[in-house]
Amino acid sequence: MLTLYDIPALRTRLADWRAARLRIALVPTMGNLHAGHIALVEAALVRADRVVTTVFVNPLQFGAGEDLDAYPRTLAQDAERLAAAGNHLLFAPSDATMYPRGRDGHTVVDVPGLSAELCGASRPGHFRGVTTVVAKLFNMVQPDVAVFGQKDYQQLMLIRRMAADLDMPIEIDGMPTVREADGLAMSSRNGYLTAAERARAPELYRTLQRLAAAVTAGVEPAAAERDAMRALADASFTPDYVSVRRQADLALPGHADRALVVLAAARLGRARLIDNLEFERGATATG
Ligand code: PAJ
Repeated sequence: MLTLYDIPALRTRLADWRAARLRIALVPTMGNLHAGHIALVEAALVRADRVVTTVFVNPLQFGAGEDLDAYPRTLAQDAERLAAAGNHLLFAPSDATMYPRGRDGHTVVDVPGLSAELCGASRPGHFRGVTTVVAKLFNMVQPDVAVFGQKDYQQLMLIRRMAADLDMPIEIDGMPTVREADGLAMSSRNGYLTAAERARAPELYRTLQRLAAAVTAGVEPAAAERDAMRALADASFTPDYVSVRRQADLALPGHADRALVVLAAARLGRARLIDNLEFERGATATG
């Protein structure tokens, strides 16, 4: 596996691949790779001839007081995992390579509306940082396909919208969330949990499962959201939000909407955990 740090070297290698008519997939990450990330690489390998995985802890998407400095940086280990998975190229740029004039004053890509809701309400500017860095990576790599995780459901929706709005000719694929045996969604931030917190952490997903069952059985989403917030607080989380939305566009559901998703974010100790669950409200539900 090739590891590159600079844009000119990246472009040279990509030009060779394109000249050979090879199909290229991109998997953007912030590193500290776990089985969820590797599943994206495996999906990318099925979709393309060459897979480029990027590891960059993007300062633009961290707010003041968030965990930018604490975020785990494990590049040597990540490179080993990627090579073992069959990834072809690891691109691991520095902050100076990505933001040569510094992060302030950089041109940004901002998807209006949805980027200010849910996680965007608790983390102002976060999604502007995400869409900006993903747009840059798209321009650097110009992949045929890019693969993201449904674990970051709102992020995936915003990236799809950005690519559509800016006419980026890139197929965006979303892959299911990879979970630990007890249901906890894998995340680089799970490492912030103490042993006691880690034991309680699966309650987030269990709460979403209970909410989905309740709404499917006809409970009003708003009432189910309140119950879920209470359940999370009782399990010593500090919930940011629990919200039932439509899968199609993450708008608030109307009575006729059946394809729903519940999204949640909650703090547990030092970690801010997010999770979501898609479900279908049955035709019998009055909801
Ligand atoms: P990061 O949190 O490292 O995640 C990189 C990719 O892995 C994202 O597409 C995310 O949805 C996916 N992922 C994370 N945990 C997963 C899990 N348990 N199962 C399946 N997929 C999972 O998301 C980011 O980085 C950044 O915001 C980024 C898009 C790289 C922009 O900086």
